[in-house]
Amino acid sequence: MARRQVNNKNVNSYNMPLYALLASFSQSSSWKTMNTLSRFFREHLRPNLGLILAGSGLAVLAGLLQTLLVGSLKWVFEGFAPTIIPAGTPIPDALPAFTAAKAWLTSHLPEGSALRTSAFVPTLVIVIFALKGICSFSATMLMVRSGIKATQRLRERLFGHLLKQEPAFFQKHPVGELLTRCISDVGAVQGIASNQFAESIREAATAVAGIAFVLYLDWQRSLVLFLAAPLIIFPLKKLSQRIRKINHRNQEAIARLLQRLKEVFSNVRVVKAFAREGYEARRLEGQNVELFRIGMKSARAIAMSHPIMEMAGGFMLAGLILWVSSDIQAGRLATSDFMTYLVAVFAMYDPLRRLTRINNEVQVARASLDRIYAMLDREPQMPPPANPAQMPSVPKKLAFENVHFAYEQGHEVLSGINIQVNSGETIALVGGSGGGKTTLVNLVPRFYDPTKGRVTIDDRDIREFDPGELRQQIGIVTQETLLFMDSIHDNIAYGKSFSREAVVEAAKRAHAHDFIQQLPDGYDTPLAETGSSLSGGQRQRIAIARALLHNPPILVLDEATSALDTESERAVQEALEVLMQNRTALVIAHRLSTIQKATRIYVLKQGQVVEVGRHEDLLALHGEYARLHQLQFRE
Ligand SMILES: Nc1ncnc2c1ncn2[C@@H]1O[C@H](COP(=O)(O)OP(=O)(O)OP(=O)(O)O)[C@@H](O)[C@H]1O
Ligand SMILES: [Mg+2]
Repeated sequence: MARRQVNNKNVNSYNMPLYALLASFSQSSSWKTMNTLSRFFREHLRPNLGLILAGSGLAVLAGLLQTLLVGSLKWVFEGFAPTIIPAGTPIPDALPAFTAAKAWLTSHLPEGSALRTSAFVPTLVIVIFALKGICSFSATMLMVRSGIKATQRLRERLFGHLLKQEPAFFQKHPVGELLTRCISDVGAVQGIASNQFAESIREAATAVAGIAFVLYLDWQRSLVLFLAAPLIIFPLKKLSQRIRKINHRNQEAIARLLQRLKEVFSNVRVVKAFAREGYEARRLEGQNVELFRIGMKSARAIAMSHPIMEMAGGFMLAGLILWVSSDIQAGRLATSDFMTYLVAVFAMYDPLRRLTRINNEVQVARASLDRIYAMLDREPQMPPPANPAQMPSVPKKLAFENVHFAYEQGHEVLSGINIQVNSGETIALVGGSGGGKTTLVNLVPRFYDPTKGRVTIDDRDIREFDPGELRQQIGIVTQETLLFMDSIHDNIAYGKSFSREAVVEAAKRAHAHDFIQQLPDGYDTPLAETGSSLSGGQRQRIAIARALLHNPPILVLDEATSALDTESERAVQEALEVLMQNRTALVIAHRLSTIQKATRIYVLKQGQVVEVGRHEDLLALHGEYARLHQLQFRE
C-alpha cells in the first residue's frame, strides 16, 4: 500500500509520453511505475522533441523500408517475367515511382541486354538497403544527440541541486554515494534516453504494423490469440519489478565500492604506513563478492524474460495448430493461408520480444532514475530567506547570544554560549579537545544553525541574511587546508578573476611568494590532488593568501596544532598576524603569541564558556586556563 502514497499529481494520461507507455509495456499500470520516467521525459527530453521526432521518423522509415523489401519481393519477381503479366495490370499504378525507376533503368541499358530484365532486382535491393542504412544511421545519431544532451542537463541539474544542500547533508551522504548518483546513475539513464528510446519506437511501429496485419488476415482467430496475452504480461511484470529492485541494490553496492576506493586512495599513506595493502585488497574482495551476487541475481531476472516469452509463444503456437488442424483437414482452411498467417504471427511476435528486452534495460535505468529524482526532490534545509536583510559592508559586531547546539537531539555540544566580538578585535577560543570550539565557529558561516539562541551581526540574526552574502563577509582558514587541482594562481584567486599582481601581492603578504617562485612554473604550477605536492605550512600559507586576497571583514581561524617545522611555523604565524590586522577575528588559538595578543580569551569546556579575560588575568585566576597553559602552552 505504501506504493500508493507516492505523489501522482503531475501525472495524467494525456501527458503520458509514448515512451513511458512503451517502457511500462507488459508491466503494472500503476501510475507510480511511470512516474520518474515520464517526469524525465517531460523535463529533459521534451526540449529536444524536434530531434526526437525526426529521429523516430527516420527509425520508423528504416523499419518500413525493410518491410517494403520483403513485401515487394513477390512483386519484384513478377517483374522478372513481364510476359506473364497481361497488359493493363493495375500494379504499376500502385507505385508509380517504382515503375518510373524501372522504366528509366531499362531505357538506359543496351537494347536486348540480359541486364534489362535482371539488373532491376539487384539494383532495387541495393537502393533499399542504402536508404535503410542512411535512415537508421541518421536516426541513431539524432537520438544519441538528444539523449546525451538530456542526460548532461540532468547531471548539471543534479550537481547544482546537490551543491544547494546544507553542509549537514554532506555528512549524511558520503562522497561515494554522490559520485554514484552523478556518474553511474546518470550514465544508466543515458542509455534509455538515446538507444532504447529509438529502438522502442522502431519496434513499437513494427509491432503495431504486425498486429494490424495479423488482424487483417484473420481477425477472429487473432482476437482469441490475443486473449493469451496475460500469460506473458503477468510474469514479465513481476520480473520488471524484480529487476528494478535488484538494480537499486546494485547501485547502492557500487556507491559503497566507490566510497571505499575513494577512502583508500586518499588515505593511501595510512595504508602504506601500516602495511595494510593485503587487508584493503581483501576488503575489496568482500565487496566484489556482494556485487557478484547482485549481478548474478540481476542477470537471472533479465535472462528469465526470454524463455518466458518463448514458452508463451510455444503455447500459443501449439494451441493454434490444435485449433486449426480440424479446419485444414475439413478443407475449410487452405494450408497456404494458414502458413501465411503463421508467418505473420511470428513477424508480429518478434518486435514484441525485442520490446521486452528493451523493457528490461529500461527497468535498470528506472532504478537509477528513481534514485536521482529522490535527490532532486530533496529541499535544501537552509533555504535563503525570501526577503534577505541588507548585509552591512563593514560589520561592527558579531555576537553569540545564548547559543545552544546539538548534532544529535538530546546531546548538547554547546550550551548557553554568550560571546561578543567588536570590529577590529581578535577573540581567542581555547579549551581541551572536544570542548566545542570548531562547532562554535562553524555556526558563523552557517554550516550549522544553533538549536536555540542566535548568532548576530550588528544585532541582526544571521539567518536574515542571504547565506551567500553572509559567507562573502567571512574568511575561513582551517586546519585541513583544502586546495583544488588547479594552478597556484587559481587556488589563491578561487573562482574570481583577480589580476596576477593582486595574487602576487596577497602571496607576498602571506609569506608564500618565495616558495611559490621556486616552483617549476611559479604561480602557474598545477597542484596535485588536494595540494598534496606542498608541505603543510605551504598549503596553509596558500589558504591565508586566499583569505587575504578576498579581504573579508570577518575572519574565522582554526589554527593548526600540527607540528610545523620552526621555519614554516614562524612564516605561518607572521602570515596569520598580517591576516588578522584590522579584521574582526575569531581564532581557535594554539599559538601562545596569538593568545597573548588577543583582545579577550574565552575558555570553553564541555560546551560552556568557563572563563573570560586577558592572558595575564586568566593566569592569575589559577583555574582552567592556567591548567591548560601548564599543559599546552609552555614554550
Ligand atoms: N559532525 C559531527 N557530528 C556529530 N558530533 C560531532 C560532530 N563534530 C563534532 N562532534 C562532537 O561535538 C563535540 C565538540 O566537537 P568540536 O569539534 O567542536 O571540538 P573542538 O573543541 O573543536 O575539539 P578540538 O580541539 O579537538 O578540535 C565533540 O564531542 C564531538 O564528538
Ligand atoms: Mg576543532
